[in-house]
Amino acid sequence: MKIAVTGATGHLGTFVVEELKKRVSNENIVALVRTPGKASALEVEVRAFDYNQPETMTAALAGVDRLVLISGNEIGQRARQHFNVIEAAGKAGVEWIVYTSLLHADSTTLNLAGEHMTTEEALKASGINYTILRNGWYTENYTGSIGGALAGGAFIGSAGNGKISSAARVDYAEAAAVAITDESHKGKVYELAGDDYYTLADLAAEISNQTGTNIPYRNL
Ligand SMILES: NC(=O)c1ccc[n+]([C@@H]2O[C@H](COP(=O)([O-])OP(=O)(O)OC[C@H]3O[C@@H](n4cnc5c(N)ncnc54)[C@H](OP(=O)(O)O)[C@@H]3O)[C@@H](O)[C@H]2O)c1
Repeated sequence: MKIAVTGATGHLGTFVVEELKKRVSNENIVALVRTPGKASALEVEVRAFDYNQPETMTAALAGVDRLVLISGNEIGQRARQHFNVIEAAGKAGVEWIVYTSLLHADSTTLNLAGEHMTTEEALKASGINYTILRNGWYTENYTGSIGGALAGGAFIGSAGNGKISSAARVDYAEAAAVAITDESHKGKVYELAGDDYYTLADLAAEISNQTGTNIPYRNL
């Protein structure tokens, strides 16, 4: 049984491959990548796969039974790109797709949701088995700013008192690996996020606590 992962050289995709390696043998994992030169450390079969080249995708999916479709990062192009993947998967006989969507994609006011909803609908209409993982915010969206906050003396944001229930990418990756290796998740839609919430002021206070330097939150 072959499980393929798109975006396997990305931050999330790399973790998904690592989490899959804990659950199935490396020979059963295929990394589908736009940039094969970046994939040598994955230690699994690597196949070239570009969401913008539908004519090459069906062949790249040959023999793949299950697919983790990690949403692309070209906002505005993604619905078309994801549709290309779903169509090629159908032609190649892929029997199950796990798709990484957006938390509460069907009800959120975030403008990012439209492409995810279009993809979810295309997936449901495709006749391929599906599991939808509606991923919340990555914790790394904020931890990446800690160095700048320390250098500049404040954590800067524009979230006001907004509550954030983020989770680390590796946790979302584990969810994807668990989902695609357990048939009981077929047909399910999961909302995934952290168990608890924090505000950016809470985060600044925690950075201050951990570093011993006063880092206030400055709301733009
Ligand atoms: N939940 C959140 O907080 C959050 C935040 C940001 C993004 N996201 C979404 O989650 C996805 C995964 O996150 P991430 O951090 O892993 O993003 P990332 O590091 O930017 O990875 C995106 C992956 O998509 C691949 N890709 C982009 N365009 C492609 C194309 N035309 N054909 C084939 N592959 C293509 C990239 O390939 P290369 O390695 O060749 O560049 C990369 O491997 C993002 O793409 C985005 O949809 C979620």
